[in-house]
This record gives sequence, structure tokens and C-alpha cells, in this order.
Amino acid sequence: MTLPTVHILFENPAWNPPLTDALDAAGFPYELHYLDDGIIDPSVPPAEGIWINRISPSSHTREHGSTVAMAREWLFWLGVHGREVINGSHAFELEMSKLRQELVLRKYGVRTPRTVLATGKDNLLRLARTFEGPFITKHNQGGKGLGIMLFNDADVFADYIDSPDFDWGPDGKIILQQYIQPPEPFITRVELVGDRFLFAMRSRTDDGFQLCPSDACQVPATNPAVCPIDGEADEMAANDSKFSLAPIAADDPLVQQLLALVRGEDLQIAGIEFVEDANGNRYVYDINGTTNYSGVLGRQIDVDGMTEVVRYLREVIVPRMSRRVAA
Ligand SMILES: Nc1ncnc2c1ncn2[C@@H]1O[C@H](COP(=O)(O)OP(=O)(O)O)[C@@H](O)[C@H]1O
Ligand SMILES: [Mg+2]
Repeated sequence: MTLPTVHILFENPAWNPPLTDALDAAGFPYELHYLDDGIIDPSVPPAEGIWINRISPSSHTREHGSTVAMAREWLFWLGVHGREVINGSHAFELEMSKLRQELVLRKYGVRTPRTVLATGKDNLLRLARTFEGPFITKHNQGGKGLGIMLFNDADVFADYIDSPDFDWGPDGKIILQQYIQPPEPFITRVELVGDRFLFAMRSRTDDGFQLCPSDACQVPATNPAVCPIDGEADEMAANDSKFSLAPIAADDPLVQQLLALVRGEDLQIAGIEFVEDANGNRYVYDINGTTNYSGVLGRQIDVDGMTEVVRYLREVIVPRMSRRVAA
């Protein structure tokens, strides 16, 4: 059987090899589409095949300031033509806004930290004064932990928003969120592909808020201030002891809620993060469509995330496309 071409929308080349290796191993032809500058001509239909959206909300931090805006148009173009898209427009808009993530998590009854959004310094300060305990700031279009600061006190926050360090983030909106103090320094990320739970992973948080599990993003112990996105993946992976398997199974009630969410919201690939408080309450705060998998952990548990993504393409998406052609 001839497999369809897989078209990968990407911006950070460091994240491509795990996916392209898995596609090669399964015999899928693929094409990479780099999205920063580009052209869309509406008189031309997009290529046939399967499209995978791998565009991250932190693209602007790699000097790719047009990527997100371009991806929006590109995904709309694919949608209009009815192309098979993994994490299409709706999933992308969810990933680009922590407010929308909060709205959707609430819709599925998932417990979240108190989360509010504002533009305008007066509004932000007014909201900050409504938090009884510690709170954190986030860029609404987040990623890489950018814009995340912890405050115990609204007066300190008032000084911060008047300082040159304050940054409204790429979409000009700030989230204030209840800070959940974990009794031990880790968060958990639940990895879902299609309708399936793959595994959950613990990430140690003692190094700060930047927790991308991609081998290419691991910070070497020698220079913790740098995110070596262009570094050697194998070398970075050798430093990687930040990630371990979390003791969570597919029948966990939270996993079941998250599976309902990804099904209902048309997200085919997701890494969803939660933090647990001292009473064992789990608060979900981040939905990543552009999830990356730790190679080190994958080898330990013998589950390669991108191989599972490609298995989903082969076993679910390709048969669906064939049925559509036959109909
Ligand atoms: N409400 C919260 N309480 C405690 N820690 C949090 C909270 N929200 C985020 N964090 C910490 O900050 C990290 C980054 O936050 P996140 O919302 O995932 O931003 P990003 O989209 O940049 O990854 C998290 O992985 C976690 O360690
Ligand atoms: Mg996160």
C-alpha cells in the first residue's frame, strides 16, 4: 500500500528528528514546511496527504516572529480544503491561549488553579489584589515558562509591572494564576495520542519553570542559564535525569477526563500538565499540542512517543482517508 505524504509544519528544526526518524522507520514519505516567512496563494489547494502542526507558542523567542500568525492562516487554508490535519485550527487556538485552556478545562470538569486574564496595568493590579495567597504571572501565549514569576504580595507585583522587566508577552495579555505549592518539586505531564493514554511523566521543577522534555531543550549542568536549542541532542540527553515515569494509569479518573477533552476539542496529540498540592489535589494548568518526548525516558520505559504518533497515523488516519476516498 502506498502511504500518503506527511506534511510537517515546523518552526524549530531541533524538534524534527524524533518525528522524521519515526516516519522513516514506518515508510512514510514526508515533507517539511518551515513556517516563518512564506506564501499562501488561495487559488492553489494545499498538497494532499496528512498534515501535522508542530508550531509552538514560543516561536517568537527563536526570532520567528511571524510564525504563529502564519500558522493561523495556513491551518485555516488546510481546513477550508478539508485536509486531514493533526492538531488543526481549533487545537492551535487552544495551545496559543492559556485563557482558552482554562475555559476548556472547566468545560470538562477538570480542577484548575484560579486563573484570570487581563490587559491594562490597572486591571492587572486590581486582579492581583483579589488573590489571597501566592500567585504567578504568565503570558497568555505561553511556552518555555516565559513571563512566569511568583508573587506573594500585590505591592511587589505593582512594582514589577512598572519596571522595565515587565513584558506583556507576544499577544499582549497576561494571566494571573493561583500558585499551587507542590510538597515535592515536580509536576506531571500526561501524554495522549489519538484516543490513547501513552504514559505520564514527572518533571523535576527545582531548576525553574522551563520544562520542555525534548532532548534538544535539556539544559546542560555546566550552564543552567542557557537553553541550548541548537545543541547536540545526544549530549543533552546524557544530562537528562529530570524526567521519570509517573505512577498513573489509563483508568485514572483525571486521565479519563483529559481523554474526553482531547476527543471533544479535536486535539490529536497533547501533553497536559498538572501540579499536585499537599492534600493530593491535582490542578491542571497547561495543554501542549506541540508536545516533545524525552528520549531518555522513552528508552527506559520502551515507549517512543513519536513512534506512537506515527502508529496512530498508520492505524487510524490512513484507514480513515482510504474509507473517505472509497465513499
Ligand atoms: N499554578 C501553578 N502553580 C504552581 N506551579 C506552576 C503553576 N503554573 C505553572 N507552574 C510551573 O511553571 C511551569 C511552566 O508553566 P506553564 O503554564 O506550563 O507554562 P508554559 O506554557 O510556558 O510551559 C510549570 O511546568 C510548573 O512547573
Ligand atoms: Mg508547560
